Amino acid sequence: MAARTDPAVEAFTTSIGADYRLHAEDIAGSRAHARMLRAVGLLSAAEQRAIDSGLRSIAAEFESSAFIVEPGDEDIHTAVERRLVELVGEPGRKLHTARSRNDQVATDLRLWCKRRCRELMLAAAALQEALLERAREHRRTILPGYTHLQRAQVVSLAHHLLAYFEMLDRDVGRLADCHRRCDVLPLGSGALASTTLPLDRRRVATELGFAALSANSLDAVGDRDFAVELSGACALCMVHLSRLAEELVLWSSTEFGFAELPDSHATGSSLMPQKKNPDPLELVRGRVGRVVGAQVALLTTLKGLPLAYNRDLQEDKASLFDAVDTTAACLAMAADIVRVVQFDTAAMAAAAADPGLMATDVVDHLVRRGVAFREAHRLVGRAVRAAARRGCALDELTPADWATIDGRAGEAAVVTLFDPARSLARHGLEGGPSPREVGRQLTRARARIAATRKLVTSLAGTHGRAG
Ligand code: ARG
Repeated sequence: MAARTDPAVEAFTTSIGADYRLHAEDIAGSRAHARMLRAVGLLSAAEQRAIDSGLRSIAAEFESSAFIVEPGDEDIHTAVERRLVELVGEPGRKLHTARSRNDQVATDLRLWCKRRCRELMLAAAALQEALLERAREHRRTILPGYTHLQRAQVVSLAHHLLAYFEMLDRDVGRLADCHRRCDVLPLGSGALASTTLPLDRRRVATELGFAALSANSLDAVGDRDFAVELSGACALCMVHLSRLAEELVLWSSTEFGFAELPDSHATGSSLMPQKKNPDPLELVRGRVGRVVGAQVALLTTLKGLPLAYNRDLQEDKASLFDAVDTTAACLAMAADIVRVVQFDTAAMAAAAADPGLMATDVVDHLVRRGVAFREAHRLVGRAVRAAARRGCALDELTPADWATIDGRAGEAAVVTLFDPARSLARHGLEGGPSPREVGRQLTRARARIAATRKLVTSLAGTHGRAG
């Protein structure tokens, strides 16, 4: 191209606003590339040293916010290279040897995603730890468990909180998986067809801490699956956080009264003096929309793109960055709230005293005495209706009432089934809510947090000089 691009087109196509934040990854990638070029004889030692010291100075400029973006800097890659030539002259013009911005940006983005995957894993583990700590306090705190938002059976607050632990554990697993998929070096793919120059890709991979080399140059420059996966992991994690947030919002309503946010984590109303609103929770719940939107945006950008690099791919960053930032912020806020939320255990106990919650225990009791399950279910249904007709609670039916409902009820035994704490203790199967089983789950949960932290340390350890 000989003629100058129209300024309006330049303004329209620039991406420095979004990709500025890839500067550390871009510089790390360039330093590794230059060292490799020297190793294979495409740069002299002096040229490589000049490039390396120039890149280190540029990194320092970014660190101290002294780096100045010039009007012609289309993206972070051109900005760094422009500055390098300013600083070190001719050797800087050799940095881009056997490289295209297509394989460069894919490399930068993969480095960024790997780092953020690890950060998100640690943030999820911190929320898991907060849930675990609160669960430890509440193994014997009883509340109703709900299905269809109707009171169903007795559970403990610990068991309830640990349900979220499990969701987050799957999020951690997805992020670890995504990290593995990001861990492939595209550099060396050139614009699309690699290069005729004798690059040592393996050396660059080792230096930057990539586990593998991309196997197909056409795929490598056009592949953003890893970004879709990361945004997907974020979207599902946000769905989990929004469910947790919704429950705490519900629980902090007067109608439930199970939880209260301290003033430090609630806001007042500008109009109604009596109000205390759970705004941070509502925003966690609300921001899921942005993150799910980012996933849809990314998928839609990729759909129908021919091989290999197309400029559409530049649109990956704004959505991906926002998804990751939002998820990180929401994980941190959720952990904060879990640490400080006050539970009203008396209100929970009062709600769990509803003897209807033990109706299924009575069914199980009949089953133990040889009654077929369907029949037992019908009989207890009949008892529930009898109690309702009489305007009394299920546990107010007398042994004589039970005897008329069915001779096999074991009248004396059945009336002892309505203690919620004992009901909880009876649900002791693996994965159930009994305090003893939850105790076992707490031990397992602690080990899983430790395993996540260890995994992140080991993943970061193999991450080479790019940090
Ligand atoms: N700013 C571009 C992006 O983010 C970098 C690659 C541009 N390549 C090109 N041939 N125009 O995708």
